[in-house]
Amino acid sequence: MTNDNDVFIQWNSKYEIGIPKIDEQHKHLVELCNRLHESIVADNPLEQKHQLASTLKECVAYVGTHFKDEELLMQAAGYDDFAQHKIQHDTFTKKVLETSEDCNSQNRLAAIKFVKFLYEWLISHICYEDKRYVPCLKEYLQKKTKQ
Ligand code: FEO
Repeated sequence: MTNDNDVFIQWNSKYEIGIPKIDEQHKHLVELCNRLHESIVADNPLEQKHQLASTLKECVAYVGTHFKDEELLMQAAGYDDFAQHKIQHDTFTKKVLETSEDCNSQNRLAAIKFVKFLYEWLISHICYEDKRYVPCLKEYLQKKTKQ
């Protein structure tokens, strides 16, 4: 059981981009970062090992799901900077896959560094890069609902 003080990252409404499906996915990614952090600091070594491995797997998979959904939407909307945005997703995914291999319960420092990297990249990417496609995607989604 956690309380607000235990939460590693507090979701903030300033991270919202105003596209509900994407906001939900971003919130879920932040939640997964928090669960990763919880599993790293868990007292019970067995629980820690199990939780860390399963949350890590879920986190890596969900990053893939989110990027795929976001990319499909950017492509459908004809977003000008799609190629550049996709390069950022691909570079991050590659780094996550490489780094997550070193992240296990035997290497707590690597695990903490990993979750910090994950969190910082996600928040910065959401706030600076994802927000850039919002006008284009909103226009596309509005047109689509009128059809
Ligand atoms: Fe929400 Fe470009 O990742």
